[in-house]
Amino acid sequence: MQSFVFLSLAALSAAWPALQEIQNAHPNVLQEAAKLAARTLEGRQNDPLGTSRAETNCGPTPCLNFDPADQLVSTSGQWAYASPAASDIRGPCPGLNAAANHGYLPRNGIATIEQTVSGLGAAYNLGPVVTAALAAYAIALDGNVAEGVWSIGGPLPADLLVGGLLGTGQGLSYSHNNYEGDASIGRNDAYTNHGDAHSLNITKFERVYAVGGNDQSVDGRAQRYTLDKFRARFQEVQEESIANNPYFFTGVFSTVVVVPAAYNFVINLMSNHSLEEPSGYLDGYNFKSFFGVTGKPGSFVWKRGQERIPDRWYRRPSSNQYEGPDVVGDVALGYLAYPGTLKFGGNTGKVNTFTGVDVSDLTGGVYNAATLFQGNNFQCFAFQIAQNGIPSFLKGPLSEVNKIVAYVGGYFAPLLSGLNCPQLGAYDQGLFNSFPGYKYSPTGPDTNY
Ligand code: HEM
Repeated sequence: MQSFVFLSLAALSAAWPALQEIQNAHPNVLQEAAKLAARTLEGRQNDPLGTSRAETNCGPTPCLNFDPADQLVSTSGQWAYASPAASDIRGPCPGLNAAANHGYLPRNGIATIEQTVSGLGAAYNLGPVVTAALAAYAIALDGNVAEGVWSIGGPLPADLLVGGLLGTGQGLSYSHNNYEGDASIGRNDAYTNHGDAHSLNITKFERVYAVGGNDQSVDGRAQRYTLDKFRARFQEVQEESIANNPYFFTGVFSTVVVVPAAYNFVINLMSNHSLEEPSGYLDGYNFKSFFGVTGKPGSFVWKRGQERIPDRWYRRPSSNQYEGPDVVGDVALGYLAYPGTLKFGGNTGKVNTFTGVDVSDLTGGVYNAATLFQGNNFQCFAFQIAQNGIPSFLKGPLSEVNKIVAYVGGYFAPLLSGLNCPQLGAYDQGLFNSFPGYKYSPTGPDTNY
C-alpha cells in the first residue's frame, strides 16, 4: 500500500514541470490535477477507502495528457468490426473478445504471445510485460506450449490439441480455478451454471450497470463508473456467490487476483478519454458496447460474441500503459479499501458456509494478514502464487511439468525483478482439499463461444 501511494505521488511530482507547461493551454487540466494531488495526499493518511474513492479511471498513476493521434483506436479498414464466424472462438473476457472482433487479436480467437502483446497494446495500452505473462500463463495451462498458442474461449481445435500438452487445452472458457474464478462481474459462477462461466448473465450485468447511475436511456451517456464503485460491487457479488453457490471457492490466483483485476480492467482499459477528461470516463454507452449489450435498463440484450470497440473511442495514453505494478496495485487497494473482500477459502458444500484459510498457513508463514500489503509484498505474492500453483493444474511427468513452470517463470521474472521478494518456500494447496469447489473442474460442452 505504501509503495502504491508513493507511486502516485512520485508520478505527480515527476509530471509537475509538464503540468506547468500545459497550464496555459488547458487550465482545467491543471485544476483537475491539483484536485487529484489533494485527494492523493488525503489518501496517504492511511485512508485506503479515501484513496480508492479519489482514484481516477487511469489507475494508480493519473493520465494528465490527451493526445488524440496516439489514443484514437481505429475501427475501420483492417480494424473494422466483424462478428465472429461460427468457427471463431470467443470466451469469458469481453476485452479479448472485442479485440478479436476488430482484428487486434487474430479473429479466430487463437493467439501467440507476440500477437497478444501487440494487439492488446494497440487496442488498450495494456503493458507489454504483464500482457506477455498473462498470455504465457494461458498457453501453459489452457493452451499448448509446443504450438505456443492459447484460446480466448473454448477448446483449441483438434489439430492444435496434440503434442506437448500438459495443460487442458480447453481455453479460457474452461479454465475454472486456474484462470477463471467465482464472483465475476457479469458471468455466473461455473458451478451454478452447469460449468458455463463464460456466457454473460444479463441480470448480473443489469446490476453492475446500475452502480453507474440512474440513466434509463438507450445511450446511457449519463452513467459514470469508477474503480471504487466497482470495488464495492465486487463485495456485493462475493456475498451473493457465498449465499447461492455451495461450491464457491477462491482460487488463489484466479479468484483472489484475476477476478478483481478484471473489474478494474473495465475502468482502466475500457474508459474513453478526452481533452476534458484525460484520465478517462466510462459511461453506459461505452460499457455496453465493450460487453456486447444493447438496449436500456430493464430490457438489455446480450449479443453473444458481439463485443465491440466503440467508434471514436480513445484508449489510455501510451505514456501511461497499464503494467504489472498497476494491475496488482489496483487489486491491493481494493482489498485495503474493502477488507472483507480478501478471502482465501470457500463454501464447504452448502451455501453460506464460507470457511477461510489463513494466508500464513498457505505460504509457510512467509506472508500473513498484516504483512501481505507491506512494501511490495502483494505484488510478490500475486505473481509468486500464480507460478507456484501451476503444477497442481498440469498432468504429466515431473520433469515436463518443471519445464512448463520454467517457461512461465521466464515471463513472470520481469514482474518480480527488483522487488526483493521473500522466498516462497512451502505453498500448501493441500489446505484446500476440504473445499468441493477446489476440485470442481468443468470441461463443458465443446462450444466456440
Ligand atoms: C492476455 C490478456 C488477458 C487475459 C489472459 C484475460 C483473461 C481473462 C479471464 C480468464 C477472465 C475470467 C475471469 C473471471 O472469472 O471473472 C477475464 C475476464 C474479464 N476480462 Fe480479461 N483477460 C485479458 C485481457 C483483458 C483486457 C485487455 C480487458 C479489458 C480491455 C479485459 C477485461 C476483462 C473483463 C471486464 C472481465 C470480466 C467479464 C465478466 O465477468 O463479465 N481482459 N479475462
